[in-house]
Amino acid sequence: MQRVFSGIQPSGIPTLGNYLGAIRNWVALQADHDCLYCVVDLHAITTWQDPLVLRRQTQEMAATIIACGVDPDKHILFHQSGVPAHARLAWIFNCIARIGWLNRMTQFKDKAGKDREAASAGLYVYPNLMAADIHAYHATRVPVGDDQKQHLELANDIAQKFNHDYEVNFFPQIQPLIMPEAARVMSLRDGTKKMSKSDPSDQSRINMSDDSETIASKVKRARTDAEPLPSETAGLEGRAEARNLVGIYAALSGQSQASVLAQFGGQGFATFKNDLADLMVEKLGPIAAETRRLLAEPGHIDRILFAGAARAEAIANPIVAEAERLVGFLQRP
Ligand code: TYM
Repeated sequence: MQRVFSGIQPSGIPTLGNYLGAIRNWVALQADHDCLYCVVDLHAITTWQDPLVLRRQTQEMAATIIACGVDPDKHILFHQSGVPAHARLAWIFNCIARIGWLNRMTQFKDKAGKDREAASAGLYVYPNLMAADIHAYHATRVPVGDDQKQHLELANDIAQKFNHDYEVNFFPQIQPLIMPEAARVMSLRDGTKKMSKSDPSDQSRINMSDDSETIASKVKRARTDAEPLPSETAGLEGRAEARNLVGIYAALSGQSQASVLAQFGGQGFATFKNDLADLMVEKLGPIAAETRRLLAEPGHIDRILFAGAARAEAIANPIVAEAERLVGFLQRP
């Protein structure tokens, strides 16, 4: 059975983008894969996080993932800091990856902004840690949204260079699994920007914890243009906001965009937005309720994560120990 690995940063409340682009796929893959899902707190601190908030968001993220349908008994759900092998392998990868490779990473450029000199060194080597997350388990399939594609290509370059430099065939190539219909859910305020849990505007996103009134008001206020919805997908060209809302409707209802437009094409946005809000409430409401129920006992979430970390370590430790042996570190006598 192929091993799946994926991660999510506890740097905010999970959004509809995280759900449609990644977590929904994580749930589906459980049927026929061995899955490891990780709340990546080491990655989160590449930009400053309030310690109390980070701890709470790590628990909230884990609770949401479980509420979405990830089964922490059959598969492994854990927090990244619970498995030190990630950081050990990341150091080796820092010495494998070339500065030129990292300079090409568009996410670093976006996140560091104009004052790149002031970004943390951790943000710069972030993709090396991500490569370590995956390769520490010899995972071969990685379900992500479109924005992570470049990082996964780098993870493959690192594996290849490690194998080449040490004349081994130790780290396998990985295959990104990207859901085409919701690979990139966009902001509700600006159809050219990704929906993000760290966007300063709460109106730009649907949080997985939003209640029905909040969802309805955010959808109602979502930016659109003045034209009616087109009746064919070609008519979405150049209409980023309309395309985004139709894409979300299609992904949540399990239909194609064409069939959504067959239903709503030619109409203004009012009815469509009402139906979209109802659909979101129907799909996300039960997840939010289950998340709240789980969070009533945060100690229970911590126990799940630490138990997952112990099981993850049992897989990662021998693999990372072997990588350390290959690079020439002393072996315990
Ligand atoms: P993060 O925390 O930004 O996002 C988690 C997952 O959600 C996807 N995603 C989206 N998909 C569609 N539309 C959106 N608007 C949207 N926003 C986020 C992301 O693509 C991702 O799959 N670097 C990763 C975390 C990570 C990781 C890993 C992933 C660390 N180590 C190893 C895979 C394998 C990140 O910041 O994801």
